[in-house]
Amino acid sequence: MIVGVQRQMGEATNLRTQVGIVGAGPAGLLLGQLLHLNGIDSVIVENRGRDYVIDRVRAGVLEQGTVDLLNAMGVGGGLGRAGLRHEGLHVSFEGRRHRINLADLTGGKAITVYGQNEVVRDLIDARTATTRPLYFDAECVSVGALDSPTPVIRFQHGGTDHEVHCDFIAGCDGFHGVCRSSIPDGVLTVYERVYPFGWLGILAEATPSSDELVYTCHERGFALFSMRSPTITRLYLQVPPDESIDDWSDEAIWAEMLERMTARDGWRPNVGPILQKSVTPMRSFVVEPMRHGRLFLAGDSAHIVPPTGAKGLNLAAADVLVLARAMKAHYERGATAWLDEYSDVCVRRVWKAQRFSWWMTSTLHRFPGENAFDHRRRIADLDYLTGSRAAMTSLAEQYVGLPMEVSFDSAGL
Ligand code: APR
Ligand code: PHB
Repeated sequence: MIVGVQRQMGEATNLRTQVGIVGAGPAGLLLGQLLHLNGIDSVIVENRGRDYVIDRVRAGVLEQGTVDLLNAMGVGGGLGRAGLRHEGLHVSFEGRRHRINLADLTGGKAITVYGQNEVVRDLIDARTATTRPLYFDAECVSVGALDSPTPVIRFQHGGTDHEVHCDFIAGCDGFHGVCRSSIPDGVLTVYERVYPFGWLGILAEATPSSDELVYTCHERGFALFSMRSPTITRLYLQVPPDESIDDWSDEAIWAEMLERMTARDGWRPNVGPILQKSVTPMRSFVVEPMRHGRLFLAGDSAHIVPPTGAKGLNLAAADVLVLARAMKAHYERGATAWLDEYSDVCVRRVWKAQRFSWWMTSTLHRFPGENAFDHRRRIADLDYLTGSRAAMTSLAEQYVGLPMEVSFDSAGL
């Protein structure tokens, strides 16, 4: 094994590693750490700066399996200290909140609210402690020779050209990354649905007025109550997809949040200064297969879910667990069967998460042009859900996360 050896050849600095990882989001960082725990070398190349990656505000719900994975990897310290374990959630419609007892319905499982940026911070700290390479602010990142035994990642860093020669490349560079688009035309099948709305999200300095999340279906559109800490509330509002955040004053945001979320019993979010606000479009997207030659796609580079089911980060974690297992088997035993199965194993989970996220989205949101029948049908769906233990069990087991496809043990944990 050649680890981190550098030599000068012409103008480019050449590096040799086992797994080259493009992207230092949750997928890339988790994979790097899983490989490290198995003694497999990697180089991570990220085109943004460290602070940008850490400060980027994203979702914050971790499935039970993701929490268990982070703990098994030894990176659950921050999560244990600051994560908020939720054993239930609320669904609100026609002004009434209905609690779904996740723990009771799933034999004790729960979700944990812990910001994705905190997860990323913890993983960067863990990566730094390994002293394995992690390049931030990489420019002109590209991947090549994907069909050859030594695919390559090229980038510029600090004014120098770099080439990382790898056994495998993991494309963990998100939806807008370079890896997926480097796969030749005709290889991938793309499945996509773009929703006719987006989410306006805010972070507010306000004590959460509920210990658990509240998903609200309202005639004016969907709204979601969440949180980040005992002093920070996180809220979302369905808006048109092309809405500009500049068109929403803080007063207008609060008026609309309160209009949609105030329940008949008087429950409503606490109001406070808005610390951050943005609008995100919503889409469902899958490519198959999640592999081309020696390039493996993982996380958002291969699939996007609308955030209503809170599955994005969790799917990324599930992908890299499967990938780490396959790479461990390859390096330890020369076995390739799990590498060959990688895409098939992952996409089965991806499609179940797509289905769940699509159902949550289409049941809770108001679609432009929907008529009174559509609205009544959606209310009936929620009425059935909250009145049926069978229906609530189905939601609960998907919300806390379906069992992982592979054991932690098989991935060396
Ligand atoms: N070169 C190097 N890095 C890149 C490039 C590139 N050309 N393009 C994008 N990146 C980086 C991004 O800056 C980001 O840090 O890849 C990383 C991808 O991270 P994420 O977008 O967070 O995707 P992923 O790690 O798959 O995590 C999935 O994150 O996006 C959320 O909602 C999503 O929760 C889900 C989770
Ligand atoms: C969040 O807290 O950011 C959050 C929670 C639940 C979701 C999406 C986002 O479904």
